[in-house]
Amino acid sequence: MDIEIRPCRDDAEMKGYGDVVSYVFAINDVDEIRREVKMVRPEWTMCAFDGADVVSSFATFPFNVRLNGAVVSMGGVTGVGTMPGYRRRGLLRKTMTAGLEAMEERGQAYAILWASMGAIYQRFGYGLAAPHISYTFDPKDVELLPGPAPLGRCSLVPLDGALNTIRPIYDAYAGPRNLLIDRPEFLWNQGPLRVRDKTRPYVAVYWNDTGEPRGYVVYTTREEDEFSLGPNQLLEVKDLAWLDLDAYRGLWEYLRSHDLVREVKLRGLVAEDDPMQGMLLEPRMLNKHTIDAIWMRIVNVERGLPQRPYGDAGELRIDVVDDLLPWNSGRWLFETDGKNTKVTRTDQEPDFSMPVATLATMVAGHRSASFCERAGRLEAARPEALRLADRIFATTYAPFTPNEF
Ligand SMILES: CC(C)(COP(=O)(O)OP(=O)(O)OC[C@H]1O[C@@H](n2cnc3c(N)ncnc32)[C@H](O)[C@@H]1OP(=O)(O)O)[C@@H](O)C(=O)NCCC(=O)NCCS
Repeated sequence: MDIEIRPCRDDAEMKGYGDVVSYVFAINDVDEIRREVKMVRPEWTMCAFDGADVVSSFATFPFNVRLNGAVVSMGGVTGVGTMPGYRRRGLLRKTMTAGLEAMEERGQAYAILWASMGAIYQRFGYGLAAPHISYTFDPKDVELLPGPAPLGRCSLVPLDGALNTIRPIYDAYAGPRNLLIDRPEFLWNQGPLRVRDKTRPYVAVYWNDTGEPRGYVVYTTREEDEFSLGPNQLLEVKDLAWLDLDAYRGLWEYLRSHDLVREVKLRGLVAEDDPMQGMLLEPRMLNKHTIDAIWMRIVNVERGLPQRPYGDAGELRIDVVDDLLPWNSGRWLFETDGKNTKVTRTDQEPDFSMPVATLATMVAGHRSASFCERAGRLEAARPEALRLADRIFATTYAPFTPNEF
């Protein structure tokens, strides 16, 4: 089998890319697949060709992602699939390696992705970077603790033009946070604002007491069974952002005021440190469910680590093991004052030895060095170094990525 690994060159080859993606993800709606392919440029792909046929697909969105508040260029890996008949012959290994090398050339020091299965990516040096958290609740059960009532009010804005109002709120919300994408237009239009299956999303904006927009919620509603006795509506939250506590209370009370709603679903839109978990009389009624979701890979340790701010100043010597990208392997001296960070080669004895995947989990702020040590994901020479690393890698906000891509 003579297989060529390279990006697609033209529309015909992009059709081949789309055919693989639609097949492996069982996307049967032809409009949907056309939309998916339209978002990807040929030069962002890295495919395996058998003759003229694309048999394995891989692509990378050029995203800017917040890493503990800093804007970092990352490759958003998407459309990964190999046609049955070509599987388990190392094609993903080849497209992944070439794809990561292309990211290195483009100066993207990190890759992130949504994994269908963690096992596929852990072997390529990806570490878990953020969970996906869902709430499923009856609005009657999630009463706020006694406290100040919201001073403003929520109102619906027309879908057409809603982006002008809510985009600045999202941008301000995402700014200091961790692992949120600076959303390009297509992530809005393909994501929360998309009319799907003839169901329009509603956009409610929270205006504070001086009339400033300080938060929003995008959601859909539907009736579950028109003949059942109510309440029988389902409300699915598609997007949510708030700029202060007053706005978050206001949005929550707004959701709670839907008397005919039996169930609210809020999926993937909050982080582990969502304040709502500390704002309710009965927190368990959120029915919180957590799964692993976003995986991150460090493409270049030397260039990548200095790009985020750190939680404390200090020096660490880290021995990194990376089987796929040899330029990452070896001993590094990491020096930071919190704001400015330098990563240089060193011969000194390491404080830690770890696979590059563990380092990604720590850089994302998803897990501490102590957690990784207890899980056997790193070796530490001294307990004091572990405590220092815990403080250094801590992030202001827990990581989450409220976007599918
Ligand atoms: C996942 C998928 C792309 C793998 O493609 P492939 O070309 O068969 O992968 P490779 O042959 O290069 O395998 C790479 C390695 O991953 C392993 N692997 C592949 N798929 C795996 C899976 N589903 N679970 C566990 N390990 C897996 C292989 O055993 C191989 O290990 P090795 O390098 O140690 O031998 C393919 O199975 C597929 O299209 N699956 C359905 C779509 C999907 O889940 N895509 C991922 C979306 S996030």
